[in-house]
Amino acid sequence: MEQPSSRKAVLSEILDRVDAWLEDSLTGAEPVIDFQRPEVLKAKLDLRLDGKGGGTDALIAETEKYLRHAVRTAHPAYLNQLFGGFNLAAFAGEIVTAATNTSMYTYEVAPVATLMEMAVVEKMRSYTGWTTGTGSMMTGGSNTNLVAMLLARNSIFKGAKEEGITGLPKLAVFVSERAHFSMLKAANTTGIGAAAVVKVPVDENGRMRGAALEQAMKETIARGRMPFMVCSTAGTTETGSFDAIDEVSDFAERHKLWHHVDGSWCAGLILSPRYRPLFKGLDRADSFSWNPHKLMNIPLVCSVLLVKDPNIMRREIQSHDADYIYHENDTSHYDMGPASLQCGRRVDVLKLWMAWKYYGDDGYAARIERLGELAAYATRRAETDPQFELTFPTQTLNVNFRCAVPEGVDADRFNENLRYRLIREGSAMVNYCRLDSGLSIRLVLLNPDLTEADLDRFFDAVADAAEAERTALQAAAEH
Ligand SMILES: Cc1ncc(COP(=O)(O)O)c(C=O)c1O
Repeated sequence: MEQPSSRKAVLSEILDRVDAWLEDSLTGAEPVIDFQRPEVLKAKLDLRLDGKGGGTDALIAETEKYLRHAVRTAHPAYLNQLFGGFNLAAFAGEIVTAATNTSMYTYEVAPVATLMEMAVVEKMRSYTGWTTGTGSMMTGGSNTNLVAMLLARNSIFKGAKEEGITGLPKLAVFVSERAHFSMLKAANTTGIGAAAVVKVPVDENGRMRGAALEQAMKETIARGRMPFMVCSTAGTTETGSFDAIDEVSDFAERHKLWHHVDGSWCAGLILSPRYRPLFKGLDRADSFSWNPHKLMNIPLVCSVLLVKDPNIMRREIQSHDADYIYHENDTSHYDMGPASLQCGRRVDVLKLWMAWKYYGDDGYAARIERLGELAAYATRRAETDPQFELTFPTQTLNVNFRCAVPEGVDADRFNENLRYRLIREGSAMVNYCRLDSGLSIRLVLLNPDLTEADLDRFFDAVADAAEAERTALQAAAEH
């Protein structure tokens, strides 16, 4: 292999390979995944780190090796988790971010990124209906939920920042039974304990409602626990359901609880006037998680916690013994580090900034609305094609369905097996979840560049996998 001699030559060699890989992903020219078992992949990758450095040749070879076995998350058949697609504007931002490698703790070392993050936070706040507020980017939706719980704890138990929460009664936090598991982790991390998380039953559309919360309140108090927080989910992970935020705000006000809205999955819907009514009551909440790395197709990670009280983050998070970083001067009030649990913090704003500049509010609203059309199309196919059945009424962008199975066959096992078959064959990547109705294939619409034809190809691939499963079952029965 010829050795590129300069930085420009190395970068262009690597970018050429990345671009070719992206092209094959976006056009579906290669399978979405070339699944290999870990022992096989280990042998192919040669994971030793020793000996002599390989220089530029090693960079090119390792890039090729990595790309060869990477899951193609921009592929039209990647419908798996709550991220995916390819956002060129954000990708450009990511490249510039890596090149300028800096940390978000002080204005001094990240002047442009600091001002951009403040502007993005302010822009996002403008959708909440709050007249004041602050916020910060964090390392994922889970961590925004964690910080929200920490702020809730410290705002209600004055002195908890310095003294901890020893001596308090056992606490309680209300969440929907379909809330994300990060709420349990947050309760563990904040010292409240995972047992403090009270899972409130949801209605037939997967929504937590005011009446169920009142019932949970009675039971929780009877058990001797002291509630201090309630969390609504704006788009549950499995079914995309929206809790009745307005009713939860009433409940929180009545009982003087901190109200956090976890929009880690679906907050981006607020960009479209069509979906904005789902957020009714957010104006009365205290904090809001918004995760652009999911619904806005920004590369991982890109997450924001917004908080209504403009002073609480600094007040409850800042510690005063780091004057080797934080110096009192006429720009220090711009430093974002004091309001963050991290010290060094990556610049996550530029990729979002670039994408927002590229699409604008209108472009993003159109992208969100396109997702709604795709979800409606997929729902119709799952409902009307006799090979499938819808397992949950579609709420927003999650379409839950499964394949109809022959008499006497375990539907859960059958659908789980066919989902693994899709991955082994590289024909689609989609995940499943367990709903009351049983195991459900969870098709998530978050890539607005998909077409209806892509979705038909996906459903056809599922139908083919089901046929192969039926044949395998029959062959096994005949033996
Ligand atoms: C509702 C909800 N909250 C929180 C999270 C966690 O977000 P992250 O994966 O960015 O930590 C998710 C992730 O799927 C989610 O769906």
